[in-house]
Amino acid sequence: MYAVELGEKKVMIVNVDGKLYATDSVCTHETADLSTGFLTGSVVTCPLHLSRFDVITGEAQNPPATVPLKTYGLKVEGTSVYVQV
Ligand code: FES
Repeated sequence: MYAVELGEKKVMIVNVDGKLYATDSVCTHETADLSTGFLTGSVVTCPLHLSRFDVITGEAQNPPATVPLKTYGLKVEGTSVYVQV
């Protein structure tokens, strides 16, 4: 997982089995940086209160977070990664 700032947004790029996905990197519960959490398959675990999110769908899988993560379209061209925010 790799966090980047795109304007006002903090977005993370996540490599799931060789395919890249982009989501907000700030947890929807409080302000933890999910890019410093733990990734298992496509599920990231928040380092602060351990809510889990699917980075492909954004779905919040367990409390305390209930709001899904925002996901973004992403495209790779050569060595460049473009995120649609
Ligand atoms: S800040 Fe992520 S679950 Fe609380």
